[in-house]
Amino acid sequence: MFEVRDKDLAGRIGRLRVGEWTVETPTIMPVVNPNLRTVEPSELPDFGAEIAITNAYILYRGELRDRALDGGLRSVVDFPGPLMTDSGSFQLSVYGDVEVSSREIVEFQDAVGSDLVTPLDVPTAPGSGRARAEADLEVTQRRIEEAVDLVGERAVAPVQGSTHPDLRERAARDAASTGAGYFCVGAIVPLMERYEYPELVDCVVASKRGLPDSAPVHLFGAGHPASFALAVSMGGDLFDSAAYALFARKGRYLTVEGTKFLEEMAYLPCSCPECSRRDVEEMDEEALARHNLHVTFEELRNVKQHVREGRLAELVAQRARSHPHLLAGWRRYFEHVDWVEARDPAVKRKGVLYTGGETSRRPEVARHNRRLARVEIGPRVLFAPHDADTSRFEDDFDVVKVKPPFAYPSELSETYPCGQSVVPGKPDPETLGVTQDAVDRLIEESDFDQVAYLEFPYGLEVPGEMVGRD
Ligand code: GUN
Ligand code: ZN
Repeated sequence: MFEVRDKDLAGRIGRLRVGEWTVETPTIMPVVNPNLRTVEPSELPDFGAEIAITNAYILYRGELRDRALDGGLRSVVDFPGPLMTDSGSFQLSVYGDVEVSSREIVEFQDAVGSDLVTPLDVPTAPGSGRARAEADLEVTQRRIEEAVDLVGERAVAPVQGSTHPDLRERAARDAASTGAGYFCVGAIVPLMERYEYPELVDCVVASKRGLPDSAPVHLFGAGHPASFALAVSMGGDLFDSAAYALFARKGRYLTVEGTKFLEEMAYLPCSCPECSRRDVEEMDEEALARHNLHVTFEELRNVKQHVREGRLAELVAQRARSHPHLLAGWRRYFEHVDWVEARDPAVKRKGVLYTGGETSRRPEVARHNRRLARVEIGPRVLFAPHDADTSRFEDDFDVVKVKPPFAYPSELSETYPCGQSVVPGKPDPETLGVTQDAVDRLIEESDFDQVAYLEFPYGLEVPGEMVGRD
């Protein structure tokens, strides 16, 4: 049902079979509100949408209910592709109560012919206590099991657990054991609204840890283009966006750097069809919604291209620089680097473009420096800057080149990732620390007879004698 084609970090490009259709992931489902439309669902494919989502609870309670039951979901949401339906859990989390059981809303979704059917999960707010989160999980798990009984692998399994990583992981594992074919990380909208990106990263990674890598994973409500790159880097495959329409209503203009208020803008920086033929004053709600969709899908294509190139981390790093909280989330990501590394391809099409700071904590660096301890070198080693001429020492020493954050035996100068990676001349302190650790570990774990170093410009400390300063 889901096939992974390309990988970078924990992100992937895949193909997901939904009903009779196949969609390429990562992708974004525009949220279609059956009652208020700014963009007709039939037009959404022109923007790049391959799948859309609508709210079954709104249909179930509203005037369109009978039409949906008689003519099917597509008679009320005219989208020429797969349609997912949500259950009303979001209403539950906002209003505290809904007038429908999970079984009823699942049967309704089935009856209208939804391709992905969501039970009424119980979203536990971030920061809730353990007991609350555990009790909610039990209800959600039973409802997932019931949905699988009713609709098989069309059942969507929401993963809850609030901000307790172990509960998230357990919820994911329990959900995966039900036979559901599709998984959603739930109750993360409040975290995104409050810019609590470190907590978001912990919640998503914990949920992912409990799911098999073969599972398609949807991040509920993660529709802002500024955070797509980060969301994909955690292994998010599908997203939904109501933001394009909700933000348009409030005069908010989406960009990959964040949201702007139209009334504060003097220029439209975008080249989409809406922006390129208008001035700021001429942007109405519909044009704004269309612009918002264009930038959303533009960033999605950009993210996919970066995955193909093995350069997703470079893109996340750029996006993270547009907001301190996003950067905090990206830094938190590296606390999960072992999990990321196990998913990140060992060889990529291109090397690391070194931009300082957290770059030195990337999985390529961690992997390389860890493997360093396994190479056979010595018993006499010479540490030298990567661009130094060491030919006169090579009879006496095995040479270890240092190109912060990498250290490597000189034979590996041309190999991935050291050879292809572009690093700046003067490393920052964080990078230097990572490099120092690699050097220390190599010396500690090997039993060298002699350690020497050559003209070290980086401020690294090598416990040995300096040679060759003329
Ligand atoms: N939409 C946004 N968050 C959620 C969630 O946690 N569950 C469901 N079903 N829908 C959502
Ligand atoms: Zn535009």
